[in-house]
Amino acid sequence: MTAQRLAELWSRGTEFLGCEHAILGGAMSWVSERNLVSAISNAGGFGVIACGAMNPELLDTEIRETKARTDRPFGVNLITMHPQLSELIEVCGRHGVGHIVLAGGLPPSGALDKIKSTGAKLIAFAPALSLAKKLMRSGADAIVIEGMEAGGHIGPVSTSVLAQEILPHICEQIPVFVAGGIGRGEAIAAYLEMGAAGVQLGTRFVCATESIAHANFKKAFIRASARDAVPSVQIDPRLPVIPVRALKNKETERFAAKQREIAEHLDGQRLEMAEAQLQIEHYWAGALRRAVIDGDVETGSVMAGQSVGMVTKEQPTAEIIGELVEEAAAALERRR
Ligand SMILES: Cc1cc2nc3c(=O)[nH]c(=O)nc-3n(C[C@H](O)[C@H](O)[C@H](O)COP(=O)(O)O)c2cc1C
Repeated sequence: MTAQRLAELWSRGTEFLGCEHAILGGAMSWVSERNLVSAISNAGGFGVIACGAMNPELLDTEIRETKARTDRPFGVNLITMHPQLSELIEVCGRHGVGHIVLAGGLPPSGALDKIKSTGAKLIAFAPALSLAKKLMRSGADAIVIEGMEAGGHIGPVSTSVLAQEILPHICEQIPVFVAGGIGRGEAIAAYLEMGAAGVQLGTRFVCATESIAHANFKKAFIRASARDAVPSVQIDPRLPVIPVRALKNKETERFAAKQREIAEHLDGQRLEMAEAQLQIEHYWAGALRRAVIDGDVETGSVMAGQSVGMVTKEQPTAEIIGELVEEAAAALERRR
């Protein structure tokens, strides 16, 4: 059985997630909603709802609707800087969500304990080994390491370097999922052999048939190559903006203007730094919505990872996962 080695290698990941394939569908704001999330879980992967800027009522509905479409496990991704984080955790708790993924920087005090008190397993992003160890001490049950090849908000270090720096030191103590730049199963096999318990992919799932992303958004993905997915540029060094990887378009200039406007407010002391950063996040949520939902791929933000070049057509989620699994299993078989 060619798939046996694969099943063995990611067994800690599949046991932890409670699914057949240790492939997390990385939460993507506006894209990872009931349809795509349930499709990924139904195909044996692990779908994750992107809560993004949703309020507690909207998240409540989204979880309910996802449950109506799948009886398999799925998770919820919450952003640490969301002003209603505590209420959102309560919504997850009421629904008995089994896994909460916490993204967007170090969580506020109390959030980790609150998540654990709901009974959910906590998955946290670690951008460096020291932070991974800190999160483990604070009670994280699994870690995601995400390199700068990824779509959306990114750190400065590549996936291949993060994997080498982090996996050997913690992969036996905690399940680690590797994300960023994964487009084919051969790469999945390689990270599993390095000690990963599984992987997380976002970009590859955008053009799934079940994804509600606008046809223009999907077309932009299908046309693009790796070099079109570029990180945003920081205009003012006083305003620390986390770079976002997206396809090049007019929106790049708009973001520069937005940064200048916010920096001026900071100069005039009309804005606190925390509020400035929240405004930037709201800006991204709006720009992404324009592209994903309205199909405005010129002035909206077409967030995409470098693996976008490996997205060549619209295809059913089950087919995407099937291809990834087959490629990973075949790569492992060739090593025997
Ligand atoms: C359009 C888009 C939106 C995203 N939104 C979020 C988000 O809301 N929260 C989050 O934690 N990650 C977000 N991500 C990152 C994904 O969850 C995932 O980690 C990433 O896409 C993995 O890298 P890949 O794109 O190379 O597969 C987003 C990615 C994309 C492409």
